[in-house]
Amino acid sequence: MAPSETKAFLQEEQHIDSVHQANGVTKPVAAAGGRTGEQVWDTKTQQYHAGQDWTVLEKFIEDYSVTTNALGTPWKAKEAAKRAIDRCDHYPPANQEPGKSSLAKFIWPEAYQQYVGHLLLGNGASELIDLITHLAPRGTWKPGPFPTQYKEYERSAKNYNYKLLAPDSPEKANIICLVNPCNPTGDYLTISEVKQWIESNVLPGGFVLVDESMQPWHSPDFRKDSLISQRSYIEDLYKTTGISVFVIHSWTKLWSCCGLRLGSVICPTAEDHAQKLKSIQVPWSVNMSALAFLDSAANDMEYLEETWKITPLWRQHTVDKIKEMFPSWECHGRDFTSWIWVDTNSAEVAKEAVRLSQSVGMPVRSGTPGYQHHTYIRVAVRNPDLLPTLLNAWKPLLNFNN
Ligand SMILES: Cc1ncc(COP(=O)(O)O)c(C=O)c1O
Repeated sequence: MAPSETKAFLQEEQHIDSVHQANGVTKPVAAAGGRTGEQVWDTKTQQYHAGQDWTVLEKFIEDYSVTTNALGTPWKAKEAAKRAIDRCDHYPPANQEPGKSSLAKFIWPEAYQQYVGHLLLGNGASELIDLITHLAPRGTWKPGPFPTQYKEYERSAKNYNYKLLAPDSPEKANIICLVNPCNPTGDYLTISEVKQWIESNVLPGGFVLVDESMQPWHSPDFRKDSLISQRSYIEDLYKTTGISVFVIHSWTKLWSCCGLRLGSVICPTAEDHAQKLKSIQVPWSVNMSALAFLDSAANDMEYLEETWKITPLWRQHTVDKIKEMFPSWECHGRDFTSWIWVDTNSAEVAKEAVRLSQSVGMPVRSGTPGYQHHTYIRVAVRNPDLLPTLLNAWKPLLNFNN
């Protein structure tokens, strides 16, 4: 959200709060002082994710805790989503069109008609991760080779009673999951490394989930470096070994629309996979606004050109400023990614950095909940104009031994 929009949003929220109060309705969490997003989750039951602080902090300026696009939501797509609300007295189209075909054209500009049947949209990638894990052959589950990764894959695997293997286990598994580039570590494998990883880690007949949500940031040539360009490899692998490779995208990051919920999966085949997933998917899980949003965003090349130009510049600026202030902190991740995985080298410093960021309404993500990387924080790439406020809030950290 741009700062001016945040202000308008908070004013609107205050207005809604006062209407609620007049009607005797209380807003239990947001009104409570000193609470953080961590407390919004029922962490005994739910998997913790970032991006909740904004709902509870008394002061909120910008969300540095999520990996959404620093440019904010594409305005044309947002307008399309708003217009779609006018038709909310109707059901969304069950075939997910025209959003689905627009996304297919975006993914395969030259061959979308050939592959649109392999594509399924979901209520965020999270819905699809769960559906595919449900469909996969039961047995063992293994994450990608990096020390930690996005946790929804593991949550689903636990729910469906897979035996969890460590990322470095030499054992091949029935279902393997790779987040590439890896959120949060920022590690990235090339296509040939991904293929090597697949072939060394999955059992014949197994499922492979490759999450490329952050890969389109790569460059205007992102398709060439992605599994979306590897249709023949994926089809041959299925024919010869029964191994099913699914390519997953959360579009809530690239197009900064987490609140709308939008994800997709490219299945290895239309008949054996996409149709099966469709048969177990709850109907209308992608609502009208999200479909209209997608139809517009997938055609907005201007926004993407700007994303490819601006993100690495703003990212480098953020890294430089952090290093200038805290020379011992280590900044990880590829230069095109929309976040920085920062090792402060001290659990105490990391904890305090999180607290201080919340105190100025600019929450960063702690590396502790879920990831268990206690000395790390994840910092989103954001407009450099906002950075001095965050760095200023971190000044007390200079008193620690950095
Ligand atoms: C790598 C990755 N995949 C998938 C998701 C799921 O996102 P959503 O359900 O919002 O599409 C996320 C969210 O943080 C993510 O980081």
